[in-house]
Amino acid sequence: MEKLIPAVNKLQDVFGQLGLESPVDLPQIMVVGSQSSGKSSVLESFVGRDFLPRGSGIVTRRPTIVQMIQTKPDKPKGEQEEVDKSVEKKGNKQQDETAKEGTKYGDEWVEFLHIPNKRFYDFDQVREEIEAETDRTTGKNKGISPKPINLKVYSPNVVDLTVVDLPGLTKVPVGDQPDDIEKLIRAMIMSYIERPNAIILAVHPANADLATSDALQMAKSVDPEGDRTIGVITKLDLMDKGTDALEWLQGKVYKLKRGYVGVVNRSQADINSRKSIQEAREAEKRFFREHPVYKNFADQMGSEYLAKKLSGILMEHIRKCLPELRSKINTELKEKQKELSKLGSALGDNEDVGAALLSIINHYAMEFNQALEGKAHEVISA
Ligand code: GDP
Ligand code: NA
Ligand code: MG
Repeated sequence: MEKLIPAVNKLQDVFGQLGLESPVDLPQIMVVGSQSSGKSSVLESFVGRDFLPRGSGIVTRRPTIVQMIQTKPDKPKGEQEEVDKSVEKKGNKQQDETAKEGTKYGDEWVEFLHIPNKRFYDFDQVREEIEAETDRTTGKNKGISPKPINLKVYSPNVVDLTVVDLPGLTKVPVGDQPDDIEKLIRAMIMSYIERPNAIILAVHPANADLATSDALQMAKSVDPEGDRTIGVITKLDLMDKGTDALEWLQGKVYKLKRGYVGVVNRSQADINSRKSIQEAREAEKRFFREHPVYKNFADQMGSEYLAKKLSGILMEHIRKCLPELRSKINTELKEKQKELSKLGSALGDNEDVGAALLSIINHYAMEFNQALEGKAHEVISA
């Protein structure tokens, strides 16, 4: 997402300065797959924080709609340094305390729709709240509900993007699940992935036959051309020794226009021992680098590559919106000119003000085009 963030920021800056609303409606990312295929794990790697319930069996039992919202970093560095200098030696201790608080109550937090005005800074508590809120609607005994849980992640390290974690496909009812559980879950998933603005991550674990992939079947039924589906093969580390998923990944078993990405997420043991996302990424890279088959394709494997691929698709989407964005800017320009000429007749002489404002707006428009096209090019050709 590193390339996408500055481009979207630039867009927002430009539009913000013009007093316009956020111009791009980025597609929503839907994660689909069978139960325990690794959906929640894949989704978490985009957010870069640990906060979704994961595990064996049916864990995600309500759609979880995660809206990421980018915040500006607290203070520019220079400002903070000045504060530091102005503090007397004796006052340093207190400064340290404040700094610690600052880490504890960092610049990343979560808010739930069902708990207004409360910020969760502790992502373990976020996970607990998702679990508790799931139980409130569905009971504790593996019931499911189409009623979504809505949460917002505020962070300087994300783009304004919505990702949806969906319950996994399952066939045999357990616990309080009704007999038609399969039908219910399918209908629930369909209602999300049939939206034209959805990008589908069809998740399939490498230790199950790709031919049995419900995720791919469902994706195909709503996106027959494969324009908005990416295949994600998880658990490559769990395949039998001597076997690999190369044919799947190359689309030789089931062709997907946008292709497949293989990933290795944290295992249950990793989760239990609280392996960090960073450590997991490193281990994943090592896995691909050292694998006898995948090492030849290591740069097209893994969670980071998946994020990059997704970022490329989002940039493509922004590019498609460009003509409309341009016309929005032009309309705004004309409005401003009209306002100015009205203002001018009141003030007497508006020539200079008008010219200055026009050049500012033109400058923004130009910067915006350059930023966007430059970045889009960078990402897509990367
Ligand atoms: P979901 O039910 O599809 O959301 O799947 P989860 O993300 O909850 O993962 C289910 C289980 O599989 C968890 O115990 C994960 O730790 C484990 N898991 C997910 N992806 C991988 C992977 O790539 N490799 C290994 N070894 N385990 C994984
Ligand atoms: Na699971
Ligand atoms: Mg899940």
